[in-house]
Amino acid sequence: MPVNTNDQKQLLSDMQVVQRIFAHIDNSTTDLGKQSWKEPVDNYRSKKRLDEELKILQNRSIVFCPSSALAKTGDYVARDVAGIPLIIVRGLDGIVRAFKNACRHRGVQLADGHGCARAFVCPYHGWAYSLDGSLRSVPHEQGFPDVDKATRGLVAVACVESNGLVFINQNPQANIELDIASLAKLIPDNYRLLNSTSQIVNANWKLHLESSLEGYHIRQTHKSTFFPVQYDNLTVVETFGENSRVAFPYQSIEGLRHKKQADISLDGRLTYVYHLFPNVVISTFPGCMQVNVLEPIDESTTRQHTYLISDINENETELLDGVFEGQKFAAKGAIEDQQIVLSAQKGLLSGANEFLEFGLFESAIVRLHSHLAREIEQLDRENRP
Ligand code: FES
Ligand SMILES: [Fe+2]
Repeated sequence: MPVNTNDQKQLLSDMQVVQRIFAHIDNSTTDLGKQSWKEPVDNYRSKKRLDEELKILQNRSIVFCPSSALAKTGDYVARDVAGIPLIIVRGLDGIVRAFKNACRHRGVQLADGHGCARAFVCPYHGWAYSLDGSLRSVPHEQGFPDVDKATRGLVAVACVESNGLVFINQNPQANIELDIASLAKLIPDNYRLLNSTSQIVNANWKLHLESSLEGYHIRQTHKSTFFPVQYDNLTVVETFGENSRVAFPYQSIEGLRHKKQADISLDGRLTYVYHLFPNVVISTFPGCMQVNVLEPIDESTTRQHTYLISDINENETELLDGVFEGQKFAAKGAIEDQQIVLSAQKGLLSGANEFLEFGLFESAIVRLHSHLAREIEQLDRENRP
């Protein structure tokens, strides 16, 4: 029986997912969505549409990075979010704070990328800020008789650390706690950062995202990588809030056929891909997880920030080697996806299609587009005179 993925309210247990996968294996079926979807090509190409999407990113509580990217006092990550430069840092009191990354003298960025700092000193004239954002010192201060240092700290942005993730919201009226209250715990407390990387993808951010959210392409795109060890077009798709979880089983899941609930570990038997609406994907791999944050740069350019996290200790070198081997394999598949995405981007520009077609197997993508459409409509209504 096809399972209608649009009626679910919360995530299934691992065992329930496994049972559903076995039913699909036995019946040659997969989860089906309720509706197909035609997404206008213009929505991937137009500057106006991208600006609307950035507005959504600026006005929502969204994942910035995993907590483990800011493990120690002074650890910071500085990058743009929806075109706005931000800096997020763990203070002396252990609290993670977010600020606009713009000096209060003449606006220059105080840091770029990631690192560990005791203070932020502006590269232009040297105004210095403490980790809590307060303006600590101004060189030759006598030249600024009108500057009250107490009121010229960095401009704060709402930020909450919860369940292994750091969330931000650039809307001053934000209530992040309320927004994330029902979000399941996705990252265990003992996970630490193995590495973080950034890369540019020359494609619209949604095209890139779509390639993670369906298993319909496994046989064709991943002929000699994922297909020999996974299944073609066999996924369990669940929804929670505006988010989705897509389970991609490996053939090794057969080893769980006769196990009891208490015995099961999905490590190496299944990859969960969590889509946290709109622009974050968290995937589980053997011994590790990847947190991918997609930053739209323009209509046809995306910057992807990837955080690799794991609960394996530094001294467990054999296990860590296994993780990195597994990641090399996953990277091969990711390159195959990227080649396809670049090709789809060319296809967008070719004028061949007025819309992209998403079928019943691609319901997590249908949700992405339907929610984006709804949010943009709402934004429109709020801004109407
Ligand atoms: S712009 Fe930062 S010190 Fe002048
Ligand atoms: Fe893929």
